[in-house]
Amino acid sequence: MADLNDPTTSWWRNAVVYQVYVRSFADSDGDGVGDLPGITSRLPHLAELGVDALWITPFYTSPQHDHGYDVADYRDVDPLFGSLSDADDLLARAHELGLRVIVDLVPNHTSEEHEWFRAALAAGPGSPERARYLFRDAPEGELPNNWSSVFGGPAWTQVDDGQWYLHLFDSTQPDLDWRNPEVPAMFEDVLRFWLDRGVDGFRVDVAHGLFKEASLRDQEVGEDERPTSGATTEHSMVERDLKDEPMWDQPEVHEVYRSWSKVLDEAGPDRMAVAEAWTQTPESMAAFVRPDELDQAFNFAWLLADWSAEAFAGVITDTLAAVAPVGASPTWVLSNHDVVRHVTRYGGGAQGLARGRAATLAMLALPGSSYLYQGEELGLEQVDVAPEHRQDPSYLRTGEVGRDGCRVPMPWGGSEPPYDFGPAAGQPWIPQLADWAALTVEAQTGDPGSTLEFYRSALRLRREFAWTAGDAVEMLDLGAEVLAFRRGPLTVVVNCGDSAVGLPEGEVLLASGPLEGGLPADTAVWLR
Ligand code: GLC
Ligand code: MG
Repeated sequence: MADLNDPTTSWWRNAVVYQVYVRSFADSDGDGVGDLPGITSRLPHLAELGVDALWITPFYTSPQHDHGYDVADYRDVDPLFGSLSDADDLLARAHELGLRVIVDLVPNHTSEEHEWFRAALAAGPGSPERARYLFRDAPEGELPNNWSSVFGGPAWTQVDDGQWYLHLFDSTQPDLDWRNPEVPAMFEDVLRFWLDRGVDGFRVDVAHGLFKEASLRDQEVGEDERPTSGATTEHSMVERDLKDEPMWDQPEVHEVYRSWSKVLDEAGPDRMAVAEAWTQTPESMAAFVRPDELDQAFNFAWLLADWSAEAFAGVITDTLAAVAPVGASPTWVLSNHDVVRHVTRYGGGAQGLARGRAATLAMLALPGSSYLYQGEELGLEQVDVAPEHRQDPSYLRTGEVGRDGCRVPMPWGGSEPPYDFGPAAGQPWIPQLADWAALTVEAQTGDPGSTLEFYRSALRLRREFAWTAGDAVEMLDLGAEVLAFRRGPLTVVVNCGDSAVGLPEGEVLLASGPLEGGLPADTAVWLR
């Protein structure tokens, strides 16, 4: 049996995966929205950056109420993004460049425009068509239970005949009933469909969802708490304030991943799946990556940690301790399309950028896989999107600023919007900023101080100093405000304090910023 802790046994155990948000990466046809041929045309950027794989957010047929996370046909490409043959071309070109491709799978819910949901509405209460979803009755003036949608408001919507259906997200995203055998059967077919086309893996959306406690009982909530369906950014494994969550992380879900693991294995030893599971503890995260389940799970604790040596060290120790017993490789993530970009979370401006680069350098030295989000290699910040341009369903449901600000299209070149995002003049689907000219890929290329060149250097060195079997992480004590650890030949030091600290002995391989008077605040370094 292969050594489960050997990073060289499978490509994903030690990979850098770049997340492409399809609407905002590159537009080929001039409609102001990114698409598959756009991605294909920009694959050389990813190869040059030095990543191993890309994960592409959903490009399937969809009315786009949640920008593709509302799937109407899991086996086709939305015309907005191209065609199945464009998907084939993308896969072929990526593989030529040595890049693996992970696609997004959305099993918790379909779009209201999926043929199953249309049939459910037409067939009426008690029908087998309704039994693929979670339709319930409620007494006049009441809801079936007290759950609320992650996007705000109740998790239930009433249809004309009086029944209600459950949607943990938008009302256009009805939740499937995974206790109905037709549902797992359908998704196994979908997995096979994309595996046959040559995808290397899947990112499993809301992997901790799918099953709800069968009773659909009320959620117990504290007095000052609103009933919540676990709003993604509210979950904190760091705080460990465990909530009563009858809608998430049910034991039955693991049976599904055991079956999927077999489907993946049948397709070959190199296919993988990574879970988006906002679980409450590192241990519950590790349950998703037991040897016969999924291969990886996003480690959101890293993303949720404050800028503090203690918080970072705690996450590193807890994560490694949680995944080691199940033999999974750890993952690290700072940003994605659902959260505020990390440069902004760390305070924004020059300080936010310095901290962002430092946290990235620390992450890239850790064992396991790092997941990057498009635009972070340019040091992009969260954009304050004007209300009239906001499209996130959570904004539309609550009026609170949503996730649009991390989804602004990529600036590639040129001096004004759309910065070579696509061939059409003017602003793309979410307006870019007027002062982005210095942040484009073109402007940063060749500038040794730029964030892009910093990422390129870090990824090059990461390969040179790749994690190998037996490389343990040893935490070092260099003071309360300094995160320091050794991994194999590398020593990594991050100064989370307010003033410079002395550099330990060793040859400096790479620093996240200028080294003046030792290791300045908000700066990280790799030493050998
Ligand atoms: C996941 C996705 C998010 C989406 C939600 C519903 O959390 O990352 O973008 O809105 O699932 O599918
Ligand atoms: Mg387009």
